[in-house]
Amino acid sequence: MYARARAVLPGGNSRTAVYNSPYPIYAAAGQGCRVVDLDGTSRLDFLGNSTTLVHGHAHPEIVAAISEAAARGTCFGLPTEAEVLFAEALCARSDAYERARFTSSGTEAVMMAVQAARAHTGRPKIAKCAGSYHGAYDSVAVNNDGSGSLISHSHTAGMPQAVLDNTIIIPFNDPEGATEVLRAHAGELACALIDPVPWRSGLVPATAEYIAALRAVCDETGVLLVSDEVGSFRAGFHGAIDAIGGVADLTVLGKVIGGGMPIGAVVGKAEVMAVFDPSEGKPKLPHSGSYNANPVSMSAGVASLRLLTEAEWKRIGGLGEQLRDTMRKTIADNGLDWEVNGVESLFRVVTGTVPDSSVNSARLGHLLFQELLLNGVLIGDSGLGCVSTPMGQQEVDTYAEAFDAAVGAVVEQARAQG
Ligand SMILES: Cc1ncc(COP(=O)(O)O)c(C=O)c1O
Repeated sequence: MYARARAVLPGGNSRTAVYNSPYPIYAAAGQGCRVVDLDGTSRLDFLGNSTTLVHGHAHPEIVAAISEAAARGTCFGLPTEAEVLFAEALCARSDAYERARFTSSGTEAVMMAVQAARAHTGRPKIAKCAGSYHGAYDSVAVNNDGSGSLISHSHTAGMPQAVLDNTIIIPFNDPEGATEVLRAHAGELACALIDPVPWRSGLVPATAEYIAALRAVCDETGVLLVSDEVGSFRAGFHGAIDAIGGVADLTVLGKVIGGGMPIGAVVGKAEVMAVFDPSEGKPKLPHSGSYNANPVSMSAGVASLRLLTEAEWKRIGGLGEQLRDTMRKTIADNGLDWEVNGVESLFRVVTGTVPDSSVNSARLGHLLFQELLLNGVLIGDSGLGCVSTPMGQQEVDTYAEAFDAAVGAVVEQARAQG
């Protein structure tokens, strides 16, 4: 399949994140917490499409919601009741979510939030945290590689200098450092964009002190605080920033809220969301999209939120904690300096070194990913993983055994390579 794919797709697929050397494995089907590849090998899916599939694959209630919606028509040049129902379900999750607006991906939702902040404040620049990933939009594809560098740079070749000049970098989890940068640029900043649990910089949550300092400097300077919870929403039942003790002006959502269908949303203060309102004349921010709020995604989203009850959210969070503990034990038993981070149902293994070997951390991460595959488990090449609602104690125990075997094999290979 890879050979065929390469003839028509650069690198053999359409997402950098799912390319894997020497070649990606191609999925054939998924059911519950298992994914089957084209060779017929079934694995436990702890990646869940980069933490999207909180209810696993093909959950019967989500499939029914999708099928029923699709049978009535997949998209219209008219709004639908489905988008009202989904907005009501989302706004019920948090008092901070006063209004909602939908797109078809997290990337578009981040773009919409940044544009809304600009339209509301009339200011051109944005600030984002060093290292954090926020999708493919130019303005945020700056310092998104996990590193702590504060000099604006991009790994997107050909990025215009003007984009770099308009995206200011603040240090993560450094209240004084971030406050200083935000104050220095305040008059020209529309928003401070943060991910409260940024996976690419290690999946370490923001501290309450950091969030409080950002909230205070934003209030002082009129900069909007935007919380990108496309990945981290599941860190709290009412969202990630709420779990840490903060309130954002706008929150960006995606992934788990869509039940596996393409989705993005911006939720937040009615006063700010009014930039989209055309009912009193031309809005400050005209915003369209042929598939925005399509009823199939909306209906899958309603089902996904309905299934993610507080009890289920807590249960998978508990399984996540168990997983992190068992992985830390395996790492300690092997005398390694690796870290396991995360909160609730999210985890990330951050590889370090192996004694008596010079194999670097990224390569060790890749070896771990491969060894886990051979032991029947899929996580991300970056070490990112999550627990989904079809999982229980048995899957956690199977994962623990696979992780133990995989780490042993990685250490052996790393030593053999010297
Ligand atoms: C924090 C964050 N923001 C935005 C995005 C982009 O979302 P999407 O992949 O749906 O465009 C992602 C995707 O991984 C993300 O993790």
